[in-house]
Amino acid sequence: MTEPAQSKVDMEKLVSLCRRRGFIFPSSEIYGGLSSCWDYGPLGVELKRNIKDAWWRAVVQQRDDMVGLDASILMHPQTWQASGHLEGFSDPLVECKGCHLRWRSDELNADCCPECGGELTEPRLFNLMFKTFMGPVEDEASIVYLRPETAQGMFVNFENVLNTTRKRLPFGIAQIGKSFRNEVTTGNFIFRSREFEQMEIEYFVRPGTDKEWFDYWVEERLNWYASLGIRRQNLKLRPHTKEELAHYARECSDINYLFPMGWAELEGIANRGDFDLVQHAKSSGKTLSYYDEETKEHIVPYIIEPSAGVDRTFLAILCDAYDEDIAEGEKRVLLHLNPDLAPIKAAVLPLSRKETLAPMAKELYADLRKKWMVSYDDAQSIGRRYRRQDEIGTPFCVTIDFESLEDKQVTIRERDSLRQIRVPIDSLKTTLQAKLAGEDLFVLPPGGKVWKE
Ligand code: GAP
Repeated sequence: MTEPAQSKVDMEKLVSLCRRRGFIFPSSEIYGGLSSCWDYGPLGVELKRNIKDAWWRAVVQQRDDMVGLDASILMHPQTWQASGHLEGFSDPLVECKGCHLRWRSDELNADCCPECGGELTEPRLFNLMFKTFMGPVEDEASIVYLRPETAQGMFVNFENVLNTTRKRLPFGIAQIGKSFRNEVTTGNFIFRSREFEQMEIEYFVRPGTDKEWFDYWVEERLNWYASLGIRRQNLKLRPHTKEELAHYARECSDINYLFPMGWAELEGIANRGDFDLVQHAKSSGKTLSYYDEETKEHIVPYIIEPSAGVDRTFLAILCDAYDEDIAEGEKRVLLHLNPDLAPIKAAVLPLSRKETLAPMAKELYADLRKKWMVSYDDAQSIGRRYRRQDEIGTPFCVTIDFESLEDKQVTIRERDSLRQIRVPIDSLKTTLQAKLAGEDLFVLPPGGKVWKE
């Protein structure tokens, strides 16, 4: 299959949809917003939670060799000395002598200011960690940092996890949480921000088997994105050259996605060797190793780290799901979201607002929402209501009409194919369950019939 050179999705349309339908708002918007910070709205928070749940199910719940962790964001400052972040986590920065805007010199293609053409200063290193103070005194001794990656929480807890779970090599720790980087350049919506969320795995292996496990995790992670419905042709693996490897990495490959602005990193998979455990052992004076019962040896495991961004996965999923077509004679915008990820799984739509239909529709709504996020909409024409649900990726609409009162049946309409079936209310829940799990709409429950192709 040939790779598309360019994404078909327009970022402006996506940003506008997110704003209009309550997926994402600019942070502190009433004060003019805060640069590169975003708030996830009522639908965004559901989609984001579903992404994190899907990741957790795949990498913790369904595996014997993984456990979870939720370490604190603020860590002992020595952590960052040992990890190399205090010294090495910086970008080279130049400043325009005219307008004083700052730029990353490694990303500049010109030797003058892109904004005003002014002369630039020599590059100097700018540390990306946010600093704050712990306690009431603001002095050197009380400086702490907001973590720039969740990874270090897992390294410093290696012994705790080992002792409390009695896991044998190879095993991994997984964590989801906020990270903060005072990025010099941000942008492309939620792609690069200063506060973001990561889903990271630290997988501990015997030295010598690291190459094999690195390849395993690359494949595993690519398959995970495909399992969410992301098209394989929009994913590409980019191995790092020796020159661009991070200070801790022996090998690294990025999983890139074809975003509207071009191919860019969605996830990085690194072989960190024994760098982190050795550094933290040195710095803390603790022994961070694994005792091999068979060989009676202490081993310092190597670490394979698949590190993904929640916000970038969110953006990739929206880009891949966005579509425009003609449905029921009208132009529509729709999100082909995987039902597992869709913020709302079904919408209950009484055909009319009349008192006669409301009790039955509300009863159904109350019953379905015990199990799923479901919405109820009785405002405007049925066509308008379908469009509203299509635009937010709701996979199924359940319509109650006047016949429902007689035959105790309702119509299920599928978002992507527009096909409809009519099913007995008694079997609605089990039918929806099967359809949400991917069963073809036209597999009918007893008493069901095809309504509209
Ligand atoms: N522990 C390794 C690590 O943090 P990274 O490549 O710097 O590696 C991993 O970050 C992932 O975190 C990236 O692939 C990306 O998805 C996400 N990420 C990093 N910086 C980000 C930012 N400023 N905004 C949004 N996501 C970011």
